[in-house]
Amino acid sequence: MADAHPLHAAVAAWYASNARVLPWRGIADPYAILVSEVMLQQTQVERVIPKYHAFLDAFPTLQALANAQPADVIRLWAGMGYNGRAVRLHKLAKAVVEHHGGELPRTAADLRKLPGIGPYTAAAVASFAFGEPIAILDTNIYRVLSRAVHGVDAPSREAIHPLADALLPKPGSPITPADWHQALMDVGATLCTARQPRCMLCPLRPHCTAAPHLQSGSDPVLAEASVPYSPRQSRFQGSARYFRGRIVDHLREQPDTGVEESTLEAVLHEAETASGAPCPLALLDLLAALERDGLIRRDSGRVRLP
Ligand code: ADE
Repeated sequence: MADAHPLHAAVAAWYASNARVLPWRGIADPYAILVSEVMLQQTQVERVIPKYHAFLDAFPTLQALANAQPADVIRLWAGMGYNGRAVRLHKLAKAVVEHHGGELPRTAADLRKLPGIGPYTAAAVASFAFGEPIAILDTNIYRVLSRAVHGVDAPSREAIHPLADALLPKPGSPITPADWHQALMDVGATLCTARQPRCMLCPLRPHCTAAPHLQSGSDPVLAEASVPYSPRQSRFQGSARYFRGRIVDHLREQPDTGVEESTLEAVLHEAETASGAPCPLALLDLLAALERDGLIRRDSGRVRLP
């Protein structure tokens, strides 16, 4: 793709009339953008929207989040899974207040130096909140760029990075780097889906190597092509993560004083019955892992949110 201008122009025009209306778009508050990106990492947009509003109602500023009790942050995270994110976001807020006067650093490189922020979130916040021209590669963007340039044979995510850098819109381009990424996320979420791509509606179609092979949902090439993008997940129900989640769910409903450790055997048993699978770890091992991740506190035989 020697000249990216036609591609940028096509995506800019498509985005101008097809962008999803999402509450974290068109806002200037870096903290709210950080909250949205941490939530969106592992949770679907529809599920994030109400949680995003509830979280910002409860903790409207980075300072407010830093001052909160971890237990309250973990309670607000209910329904999103991957609860460790709540603990990491809270610690991040505390670090920013302590070391940066409550202001988030403005570049991905400086954001990366904070505890608990990965390369994706750092790049997303730097781009969406501060306009840094930096490539962002989430699952959707990876799938779109990979298909467009490499066709149905998906290379590794690392192999796509130089391409993502090369395609970053330059000054004077019809689209800003931030909108380019938001647009590719929308293309990936609504058109260039893993299993049922709708190439006829896609602004990248004239430029896309995979499109001729992806026209029909019943195309056997597609069935194969979709495999690298949708690896079969190990069953969540019955995984250690599932049982950890059930324990945290139970503790969310308890008073701050928590419960006797022994009562959690019954919670585990109920979760085993509900999932139809045995817990792969003993209760003590689950609790040790939850404590290590800052999701619970244990003392004198009692367990509570921190
Ligand atoms: N997934 C990750 N970040 C996103 C964003 N800003 N908009 C939509 N989906 C996303």
